[in-house]
Amino acid sequence: EVDLRTALGSVEVPSPVLTASGCSANGAELEPFVDLTAIGAVVTKSVQLRPRSGRPTPRMAETPSGMLNSIGLQGPGIDGLLSDDLPWLAERGARAFVSIAGTRVEDFAELAQRLRGVPGVLGLEVNISCPNVESRGEVFACDPVAASDVVSAVRAVADPAQPVYAKLSPDVTDIVSVARAVTDAGADGLSMINTLLGLVIDPDTMRPVLGGVTGGLSGPAIRPVALRCVWQVHQALPEAPILGMGGIRSGLDALQFVLAGASAVSVGTAVFNDPSAVARVHDELAAALAQRGFASLREAVGYAHR
Ligand code: DOR
Repeated sequence: EVDLRTALGSVEVPSPVLTASGCSANGAELEPFVDLTAIGAVVTKSVQLRPRSGRPTPRMAETPSGMLNSIGLQGPGIDGLLSDDLPWLAERGARAFVSIAGTRVEDFAELAQRLRGVPGVLGLEVNISCPNVESRGEVFACDPVAASDVVSAVRAVADPAQPVYAKLSPDVTDIVSVARAVTDAGADGLSMINTLLGLVIDPDTMRPVLGGVTGGLSGPAIRPVALRCVWQVHQALPEAPILGMGGIRSGLDALQFVLAGASAVSVGTAVFNDPSAVARVHDELAAALAQRGFASLREAVGYAHR
């Protein structure tokens, strides 16, 4: 039996396989298919201070090897999360990793403040990389200085027991410099990657499919990009914990991220085809590690670099 325990910053979890923000809402949809206490954590859909309606519909489009979304951070806001979703998860003994989003540095800090000491909230994923915003200036992760401003503000007020992961964008020329900046600013880990901005045009209507025109590409199409980001950042910052994601749908996909340097992975788009994907990837990863002679996940993290 391979030891799959891992750490998210300072917190130990029984499995390195987590949901990916946005793809399993806040866990309730998955519960019939997955033992929520057996997975690493439920990473919740990015929450903001106030409810938000998101971008014009349609907001999802298929591509040959991935999915395009332009949700635009739709959601009920922090009050609803605190009153409904987080107590629901905590009652079931599920661990929540709460994704937070905002348009100003102060928004992120206020959210971190509100989440201090909330039962079941293991840590925070700071979403500074949503591509479905009005201007590139709002994508803090595209600029190392803006990214570190958000992270240091969050780390300053967040619960010391809650690790803070910064979610990075693949849409930068040098992801290592962003990773370095947010780590220096106090990030306890790095989530890589968010979706990559893309476009689909309907040949019949001859117009963009998505109401918001562009959208974030996820799924197998971005897996090699995500894996390259994990590789580069682990090479430069071997001590920084990495939560890897981008098109993972099997244990062998997850294994590649671990070998590249991820100490945990998130499964997102794959759940739309297979609602049990998160549990299945956990089992397949365990089998893949055992087959290769690893006694523990830890031994395999970053193995491809050695
Ligand atoms: O692709 C994404 N879609 N990434 C995000 O960070 C948020 C989400 C949305 O709500 O648009």
